[in-house]
Amino acid sequence: MINIIGIGPGNLNYLTKIGENIVHKSDVLIGGTRNLDSFNDFDGEKVEIKGSLKKIIDYINENKDKNISIIASGDPSIYGIGKYMVSELGSENVNIVSGISSIQYIFSRIGMDMNDIYISSCHGKQPDFDYILSHKKVALVTDNIIGPKEIAKEIIKRKLNKVMVVGENLSYENEKITIAPCEDIINVDKFDMNVVVIYDEG
Ligand SMILES: C[S@@+](CC[C@H](N)C(=O)[O-])C[C@H]1O[C@@H](n2cnc3c(N)ncnc32)[C@H](O)[C@@H]1O
Repeated sequence: MINIIGIGPGNLNYLTKIGENIVHKSDVLIGGTRNLDSFNDFDGEKVEIKGSLKKIIDYINENKDKNISIIASGDPSIYGIGKYMVSELGSENVNIVSGISSIQYIFSRIGMDMNDIYISSCHGKQPDFDYILSHKKVALVTDNIIGPKEIAKEIIKRKLNKVMVVGENLSYENEKITIAPCEDIINVDKFDMNVVVIYDEG
């Protein structure tokens, strides 16, 4: 059984107790650099995810005797590694532990309910903006290619009346949340790792 632990948005105070216990009973932690760095006190083996995820599957198959946990940011089932691992290993062979998604976190920070939100991603793909922007309340994970400025341009192009929220480095010390019209977002120099919420004005 492979554990897939959602560690929350980043600050380990948001890691669930059950996730923490499983991590500390593991022989091996697999994860991205940022996530692995958060577990300084873990004294087992650490395997960094670099490049193809297929290499991780190979590692898992070659180390069946070890107790392995994959640590994933936010919730593994929200645009995370959960889907890929289930498709490769089968749901009966994975133990997914939910974490607080960066999307859940930002809604709490801005005091807005998540009822009827549409969740999507710009991470590593070309989104269908006509469809996304037809929803009243949207939350998007982003990447370096399609981020807040590109999203704002798509909203302006369609002459839509929307407000944008950009949550950068959520839960970390340098967290920054900007709530602004799209016209202001396009003038911002640069955004760090972020999620975007878009809602109808008024
Ligand atoms: C592959 S997705 C993983 C999403 C994750 N499963 C979740 O539930 O938050 C990676 C994207 O999540 C968002 N993200 C994750 N952690 C974040 C944080 N602490 N602050 C802002 N955005 C974050 C960013 O858009 C980042 O590019």
